Parts: sequence; C-alpha cells; structure tokens
Amino acid sequence: MFKRFFRSRPTPVVPYKLGQPTFETRNHILPKAGDLTPGITALEYYERRLKLIKELPAKSISILVGNNVKYASGSVFYDFQQSNNLFYMTGWLEPNSVAVLEKTANNGEDDDLIFHMLVPEKNPSVEIWEGERSGLQGCYEFFNPDNVEDIKNVRKYISDLIKRNDYIYYDKKSGGSYFENFFQMDENEDTITNLLKSFNKKVQPLSPLIAKHREIKSPSEIAVLHKAGRISSRAINKAIAQTGSEHPIQSEKSLGAYLQYEFIKGGCDKQAYIPVVAGGENSLIIHYTRNDDLLYKDELVFVDAGGKLGGYCADISRTWPNSGTFTEPQKDIYEIVLNVNKSCIEKCHQSNEISMHELHDFSVNKLHSNLKNLPGFQSISRSDLVRHLYPHYIGHHLGLDLHDIPSVSKFKKLVHGNVITIEPGLYIPKDPKWPKHYQGIGVRVEDDIVVGKDNKDILNLTSLCVKEVKDIESLISKAHCSTPGAYDELVDIHIDEL
Ligand code: GLY
Ligand code: MN
Ligand code: MN
Repeated sequence: MFKRFFRSRPTPVVPYKLGQPTFETRNHILPKAGDLTPGITALEYYERRLKLIKELPAKSISILVGNNVKYASGSVFYDFQQSNNLFYMTGWLEPNSVAVLEKTANNGEDDDLIFHMLVPEKNPSVEIWEGERSGLQGCYEFFNPDNVEDIKNVRKYISDLIKRNDYIYYDKKSGGSYFENFFQMDENEDTITNLLKSFNKKVQPLSPLIAKHREIKSPSEIAVLHKAGRISSRAINKAIAQTGSEHPIQSEKSLGAYLQYEFIKGGCDKQAYIPVVAGGENSLIIHYTRNDDLLYKDELVFVDAGGKLGGYCADISRTWPNSGTFTEPQKDIYEIVLNVNKSCIEKCHQSNEISMHELHDFSVNKLHSNLKNLPGFQSISRSDLVRHLYPHYIGHHLGLDLHDIPSVSKFKKLVHGNVITIEPGLYIPKDPKWPKHYQGIGVRVEDDIVVGKDNKDILNLTSLCVKEVKDIESLISKAHCSTPGAYDELVDIHIDEL
C-alpha cells in the first residue's frame, strides 16, 4: 500500500491558463508574489526597459525578435530556447513573438516609453497540440505592455512603427536568419530588411547596447545565479559521493543523467548545456559530449556541467578519482590546476584593474611556472603549453547565456557585478613527447565568480562544490569533508516530501 500521498491540486486563482509558469499558476516555481520569472520581479523587467531607452534618441524603436521552435527532424522539435535579449527585457517565454520598445520623446519621464508586444493569440485547436498560450490578454495582464497585438499582424504593425519613428535598432542575423523568415510569413511578402530599406530609415544594431546592461548583473540576477550555482554544486558533490557508494555509477551516460536529475530535483529548470562527462583520456577532448563510454578503475572522471534556473546558468568543472584516491601523477596535475584556479579567483576584483585577457595571461604564466617544477616538464615552453596542454581560455562572462555577452571585449577591465567563470585546465596528450605517467590525464577546475569591489568582496557562486584533494577523497570515502556548506540541502524551491 502507498504510505504517502500526493498533495491536492490547488484551486486555480486565475480564470485562464498561461504559456509559462507564474506565481498564480505554478507557485512551486515562483513562490514570491511580484516575480515574473524566478527571482526577477516584473518591476525589474520594467526598469531594464526604461534604462535601455534612456540611452536612445527620441523617435526610436528597438525591435526584439523572439525565437521560433526549431526542428531536429520531421515533427521532432528541440527544446525551445527564447532569444535571451527579448527574455532579458520582457521575461516572455513563448515562441513567435516580438517586443518593441518605442521611445517617443526625451522628457526623462517613464511615459517616454511605449512597450509593444506582438504574440500568438489563443487558439484552442492549436493549444490542444502545442500547449497553452498566454494569448493577448495573458500577455497584457502579466507582462505589462502598453499595447499588445496578434503576431499575425506583425508586418502591418511594424511598418506603422517604422513609419512614425526616425531611428531603428535591431539585430540582423547573419546567414538568412530567423528574423528575415519571421516576417516572411509567406513567400510573396517582404522581409524586414526590404521593409526597412523601403522606408530608408537609419538602422543600428541593438545587441551591443543591451550587452552593456547585461554585463553588470543586478543583485537579483546574482541571487538567481547563486542559487543555480549552489544547486549545481550540491548535485556535483552528490555525484562525487556516489563514487564511494555500494553501487557506484558505471557509465558516463548514467552519470550525466544523474547530474541532470539532481540539478532539476534541486530546483533548477533544466541543465544549462550538454555536459561533458568524460572518463580517463576522454577528458582530453575539450568538448567531449558523446558521454558514451564506461567509467574505468583507477581513472579520473571529468565533469563540466551545470543547471539553469530562471534562464540563468551555472557552469562547473570538477575532476575526481574513480578509485577514491588520486594517484601521485593525477594529484600532481590536479594540484597545479587547483592552485591556478584559486590564484585567479583572488584576482577577481575591480580595484585590481584586470581584464579577462590579463587574467588569462596570468593563468598561462602560473600554469607554466608550476608545471616546470614537475619532473619531465622542466623544459616545456610557454607556447607548447598553450598549444598542447591548455588550449582554451581562462573563462567567460556567465548569465542568461553560458558564454554571456560575447560582444564585450576581453581587454575591458572587469568591474564589480561582472560574473565570470574561472576555469584553468591541463590536458596531457597520449604522446611520447610528454612524461609517460602523466599522459591521458585531463583536469579542469571551474568556478563561477562575481567580481568584487575589492579583494574581500569576491563571491564564489560555486564555493560549495568541493575541490580540495582531501575534501574530494573524504566525500568519496564518507569521511568528514571540510568545505563549508558541502552537505547543505539549501534550496528553498526544492519540492520536498509531504
Ligand atoms: N561548459 C563550457 C564552458 O565551460 O565554457
Ligand atoms: Mn564549463
Ligand atoms: Mn565555462
């Protein structure tokens, strides 16, 4: 007999269904009134829009085109990914939608802005197949546009907006693009480019302007990123501890599925990206995502994985020994990478006036000098290190996109509120050029860092994820692990047992 029962479905508090979770319809995902998406209030979305248009001239429109559903083959579709710029400005998660921010005047008033949304109208016969839509009414009531319009009328609606404004901001994607196709509702219609050409209006790219805002994370964005980081850290700790269980996970594929389950059970919406789960020398392939090998005795297992919460990504890499104890050569390589990870994190503060590129240079120098102390590596050149053993970069900005805001220069000094990854690695090829006992070892230690104002202010969003050799071995052998919070189940949107 069942000992436990499910909770009763609550009585709906709104008379209609919506196309994405809300406080009213999926309270376990959005437990806080006022949040439009996890951790981000409707007010913050409104302020993001205002902040953007403050920098734009009067009589301008910024056109944000959402993504369409993409198909893998035939009718089999991929998981839908919204355009992150549209999401950043609206919180809207349905496909086939457009948002337009129209700046009418330059009075410094909130009503200089008219926020337009064009979305799919409700359609019961389509919704039976594709799921509920918010429709025009849901969009209007929950997402606060001034005007809402059926996306079917996009061509006429956008034409009118172009006509009455002087400056157009939008991103023309290279290679055909969803943008062109989106407006090409049938083959005889003009594309947006033709539309713009015919009006002879000044067109400028929008994404570099939005990048300037997305580059500095707000306190609520940092809180969501922190939660994603803590959930993902805890999931990886559990995966490490599994190695010492009576039935350890035997394959890369199952370990990947275990991580995905733990990210979601912990409160994330999904995994942030296809993870790398690599046993032994598979870890030498930087983007190894086949994850179809077995995990073998005495080899390292290498994981680069993270969950995504409310659109925000975690990105963690860890390496641990299947045997429960690092061999001496494994430990030699691991300790060098860990040391560089920690030294780089210490540098992540604004008063240090350091750019991503300078951090990268520092990581190369430090890996190089540490490696030269190892027997067999004394004469390694810096260029051989970069070419063969550390072929990637120290990190990247992190946010709604895994490699966030790539338009921001790597030479720009990092400032408080930037969130970046720190991910040094060493991958020793199976090549007689390198000392035999180090060949086939691949290690990366990756954390997610909020750049501090000064050195006391640096926040490691993934500090719960164990990385000291002693702590990893303790976690596996069930001895005490001293990483603060390593065992905490601290996720407040965890759906606990009744
Ligand atoms: N997971 C990809 C990266 O670390 O950049
Ligand atoms: Mn990663
Ligand atoms: Mn990364």
